[in-house]
Amino acid sequence: MVDAAAFIDEATAAVDAAVGDRRAVIALSGGVDSSVAATLAYAAIGERLTPVYVDTGLMRAGETDQIRETFGYMETLEVIDARERFLDALEGVSDPERKRHIIGEQFIRVFETVGARMDARVLIQGTIYPDRIESEGNIKSHHNVGGLPDAVEFDAIVEPLAELYKDEVRAVARALELPAAIADRMPFPGPGLAVRVIGPVTAERLRVAREATAIIEAELAPHDPWQGFGAVLGKATGVKGDNRIHGHVVAVRAVDSRDGMTARAMELPWQTLQQIQSRITGQVDGVARVVYDITHKPPATIEYE
Ligand code: XMP
Repeated sequence: MVDAAAFIDEATAAVDAAVGDRRAVIALSGGVDSSVAATLAYAAIGERLTPVYVDTGLMRAGETDQIRETFGYMETLEVIDARERFLDALEGVSDPERKRHIIGEQFIRVFETVGARMDARVLIQGTIYPDRIESEGNIKSHHNVGGLPDAVEFDAIVEPLAELYKDEVRAVARALELPAAIADRMPFPGPGLAVRVIGPVTAERLRVAREATAIIEAELAPHDPWQGFGAVLGKATGVKGDNRIHGHVVAVRAVDSRDGMTARAMELPWQTLQQIQSRITGQVDGVARVVYDITHKPPATIEYE
């Protein structure tokens, strides 16, 4: 395990040296990796860093507020509302790889505009060690807000967390006194809730995935999973009062893992599962059915697309 205090000193000095007197940008996602990378980089180069948070509309509940609250002290913070743009670009698209591609591309376009306006020559990323291994293995085309494709032109890319595992990043986050909500936050995929909605992405289906995920994250917190979330699978029949309804089917995913490369579906108590079911069917409008995914990785992946 890395010595967090020593790492912070070394990484800050390394970012300072690598950036020199240039300007830099970093994409903030609300996750622990980019939060730690941005905090280190801001400590190193101050307002020559522009942290950019793009609200894609594919983010978790409360993410945008949390970003403003945590990083508002950085005077150069840019929060960009791109929700409509992403939803338009994704309209009618079902293929998982095309979804990922479209999201990656839209993200770059938005991000590039800010980079150009700021005359940023250096890109700082929160890439961690397992991201690199999995990208090399090419399991899925990973779009990481901390892993932009080569299309973006920068003089240099600086990755201060490139040698760390997730648990080490969390230790550094705590040493940096980032809020526990960020330090202990579960991983979240770059393409966001779009890969937790099977098939077409609509505002309605995103709402269901977002609200279900918030409930599942909260109910699973005492069980300390690597990741827990809800995915929207399709529609099925249910009953509400005297009527049959055709509502969403939500899958509950809860896995243990060290680095996301392999994972075990968790053996959760029946009571916990029933509590999740009852909250989702009761509180998330339009849900007819909740199922529990018992598949490990492999053969499944953690996310649905
Ligand atoms: P999978 O679904 O491939 O996920 O088993 C492994 C881990 O990676 C996260 N994930 C992503 N993270 N960009 C990311 O930054 C992505 O495109 C992406 N896809 C999956 C996933 O949440 C899990 O922690």
